[in-house]
Amino acid sequence: MDTIQPPQSSGIVLSGMRPTGRLHLGRWLGALRNWIRLQRERRCFFFIADWHVLTTRQENTGDIQGNALDMMIDFLSGGLNPEQAVIFRQSAIKEHAELHLLFSMIIPTPWLLRNPTIKEQARELGLVQSEDDAALTTVNYGLLGYPVLQAADILIYKASGVPVGIDQVPHIELTREIARRFNHLYRPVFPEPEALLTEAQKVPGTDGRKMSASYNNAVFLSDPPQVIEQKLGRMMTDPRRVRRPDPGEPFDCPAFNLHRIYCTPEEIEYVMKGCRTAGIGCLECKHIMIKHVVAELGPISERRADLEARPKEVLEILEHGNERARKVATTTMEEVREAMGFGE
Ligand code: TRP
Ligand code: SF4
Repeated sequence: MDTIQPPQSSGIVLSGMRPTGRLHLGRWLGALRNWIRLQRERRCFFFIADWHVLTTRQENTGDIQGNALDMMIDFLSGGLNPEQAVIFRQSAIKEHAELHLLFSMIIPTPWLLRNPTIKEQARELGLVQSEDDAALTTVNYGLLGYPVLQAADILIYKASGVPVGIDQVPHIELTREIARRFNHLYRPVFPEPEALLTEAQKVPGTDGRKMSASYNNAVFLSDPPQVIEQKLGRMMTDPRRVRRPDPGEPFDCPAFNLHRIYCTPEEIEYVMKGCRTAGIGCLECKHIMIKHVVAELGPISERRADLEARPKEVLEILEHGNERARKVATTTMEEVREAMGFGE
């Protein structure tokens, strides 16, 4: 470990995740695993962004509670520690909604209409046909305001570092603009946060496409080891390796992306050579990687089973986190109201 701390290693870290179903390996590697590392180094806030789910899914809200509990179980079994990080649920802290309302008054609509992340999301969901400048004029107000709520999520805790994937960078930029505008119009209350980019990891699903619950190609944190072995054992490989003696190219192999994440340098070297010379078969090759995945996810799935049997305790832990978050949010809102002239 370095003895000199890099400059970002101070200040509050915050991130959130939308509870849209069980957590899969892609989100584990892309986000949660990184949060778990950060909680040891920084003061961290991590939350379940359940209001944000409504921006694209207004119907069938019946599973909101269940999904929030599921996400909390994923967080805890993955290793988020409620004694280190403040773990909470967005909809439990009503102050986010108040700050969102106030921010909505100071953000020009064109800033929101330009948003490439929301445009792409709306197109993927079939809500708009194009991604041109007028695309978002037809979506619901909540989706357009997605980043305004996100800015409230971040700034209400005065976070300075926000671990996110590259697609979220426009939202962090908008957050900075909102902070700057607020500070300029009223009084300096907010820091200007930065994205802490998670190293882009390509995590394909078992069919080689991007891992996603809706593609039916995902490995879930809740999968028991046999299921993980089965799924990854069938994972797509370089199509050139039709028969055992056909050599392949690791960089054209979806499974090899997981080798690169999980295997030791010696194993990688062995696999690359074995693949290119047809010295090893694909199943043998995949098992070298699978054993690492199982070693990492096995204990998680055990803890998950244990927590699933104690939902009341899990909800109590969440409630405790909510209370800690609420204290901070309440204090910031007093400052905000004061700055804007709503103070007593
Ligand atoms: N938009 C984020 C995502 O889809 C989730 C999110 C909501 C978030 N509020 C946030 C992330 C605040 C970081 C900070 O991944
Ligand atoms: Fe992929 Fe390994 Fe098969 Fe090569 S040998 S195609 S790297 S699984």
